[in-house]
Parts: sequence; C-alpha cells; structure tokens
Amino acid sequence: MDQLLMKKVEITTSISVYDSIDELPKEVFTLMNKAIEAKKKAYAPYSKFSVGAAFYLESGEIITGNNQENAAYPSGMCAERVAIWKVSSEYPEAKIKILAITASSSSQVLKEPVAPCGACRQTLSEYELKQNSNVEVYFMGEEGKVIKTNSISDLLPIAFDKSFL
Ligand code: THU
Repeated sequence: MDQLLMKKVEITTSISVYDSIDELPKEVFTLMNKAIEAKKKAYAPYSKFSVGAAFYLESGEIITGNNQENAAYPSGMCAERVAIWKVSSEYPEAKIKILAITASSSSQVLKEPVAPCGACRQTLSEYELKQNSNVEVYFMGEEGKVIKTNSISDLLPIAFDKSFL
C-alpha cells in the first residue's frame, strides 16, 4: 500500500572530467598549482596523507589551506575547512568563485581524484548558501584526472541548512 502512495524523485548531478591538470582553464590551472603548493605545507605526521585547498575569490585574491593533524586525532582539521575558515574569518563578505583541491599519500601515488569529505561538504555548503552564488569545485589526486562540479550543492544534495533552525 505504502509503495503505491510514495513518490519517487530522482536527483541528478553532473561532473566534468579533465584528463589532466594541463587541460584546466588557465586561472584554474594557476589555482590548482596554489593548492599543490599549500599541500606541501600540510601537517600530517599521523596519516601521512596531505591535502591542499585553494579558493579563488571574486576580488582576485587566492586563499589556501592544508590539513592540520593532532596527536589527539579528532582535534585535527581537513584542508578545505582550514582554508574556508581562513577566507570567512579574514574576508567575511568575500564572494568565492572557485575551489581547487589536491591530495598526496605516502603509501601510494593518488591517480584518481580525491573528493572532499562529508563534513567539509556540509561546511562549504553553508558559505555557498550564504553568498547565494555557486562555487565551482575542482579536485584531483596527486596526478591524473581532475573532476569539476559546478557547485557545492552538486556534491551535497539535500543538505541541512538554516531553514530548519
Ligand atoms: N582530509 C582532508 O584534508 N580533506 C578531506 O576532504 C579528507 C581528509 C585529511 C584529514 C586527515 O588529516 C587526512 O586527510 C586523512 O584523513
């Protein structure tokens, strides 16, 4: 009975896939290289998994971040959140246009794009909704393909937001 009454809704998302960093639009290539530079300064002695993130703001400014770990493991923080909080704390009115993310592991060469974790998606979603315009997201591993989504909401459909509070 229930099955007859329920409505099925399909949610679709789409991604673009670039074969390599060299195929990115020029400004995104530059931004991804900033993320690669930031990744080198990650503090990841426990996981040995380094992540770099770089935001391109409407002002033209680039803000970067990397993961910061802690001997009390849950006290560490992902690169994306370190970077977004740098942006929001320093430039609370900034409009973010693009986010680039890259990661490296000491145990393997990451050839597949490394997607942002769920907690980072939720955090990033807050700021995309706040600024009322989409943030393009590009993410890759250490080498190889780069995935692009047009927005954070493409990465986190059916998000929790302030309308529920
Ligand atoms: N990490 C990030 O920086 N971003 C993510 O989206 C996923 C995971 C970090 C957290 C931790 O320092 C290490 O990668 C291994 O999980």
